[in-house]
Amino acid sequence: MKISASFLGSSNIPLTLTKLNITDVDYIHVDVMDGKYVLNKTFTFSQFKEIPLYTRKRLDIHLMVLNPLKLIDDYANLNVEFISVHLNILDDIDEVIKKCHDYGIKIGLAVNPSDDVRIVYPYLDKIDLVLLMSVNPGLPGQEFIKTTLTKINTLKDEIKRRKLETLISVDGGINFSNHKLLKDVDIIVSGSTIIKSSDYQEAITKLRQ
Ligand code: DX5
Ligand code: ZN
Repeated sequence: MKISASFLGSSNIPLTLTKLNITDVDYIHVDVMDGKYVLNKTFTFSQFKEIPLYTRKRLDIHLMVLNPLKLIDDYANLNVEFISVHLNILDDIDEVIKKCHDYGIKIGLAVNPSDDVRIVYPYLDKIDLVLLMSVNPGLPGQEFIKTTLTKINTLKDEIKRRKLETLISVDGGINFSNHKLLKDVDIIVSGSTIIKSSDYQEAITKLRQ
C-alpha cells in the first residue's frame, strides 16, 4: 500500500514538505480548493508552483474546484503522478480525462461521502484512480466516515469483475485506529496523522503496517 501525505493542515508548508522529502512517503497530496466547490480556499498555483523547491516526491493533486480544466496546464508542469477531480463540477469530465492523459498524467475521479459509488462506473474504464473521500471535502482533521468501507468493497468487486486495473485511494480522517481497515486499498491519503506527529517517518511506517 502506498501513502500520500497531505499538508493541508500545515502552518509551515515549506518546512512540512522538507521534512516529508526525507521520509519514504510515496506521494505528496496537494489539496487545491477554489472557495466555490468547497467554502475554503487554498493557495493558488502561483504559490503551489514552489512545491518542487522543497520536495522531489511525485505529486498527487486533488482539485476541489468547479473548473479544473484551466488548472491542468499549470499543474502538468510540476512533478505530477495523479490529478483527481470531483464529479459534480462545471467542466466536462471527459475533457478533463483527455487533457490529463494527453499530458501523460494519471487521472482520478473523487467520490464524496454522500455520493453513491456507482456514479463513477461510467468512467471506470477510462480513468486510473478512484479517490474515495472518507470525509467531506474542505477541511483537514475530520473524522473518518465509516460507510466508505462498504464503498471500497463494492468498487473493488466492480473493478475485478471488469478486469480493470483502476487504483483505489482513500482520503481523509485516517489514523492509527482505523488504518488497518484499509489494507485492501492501493493508496491512503493522510494529513493530520503524519504532520501533527513528532516523527513523520515513524507515523508513515506505522500507517503502512
Ligand atoms: C479534505 C482533504 C484531505 C485532508 C486529509 O478535504 O481532501 O486530503 O486534508 O487530511 P486528514 O488526514 O487530516 O483528514
Ligand atoms: Zn485531499
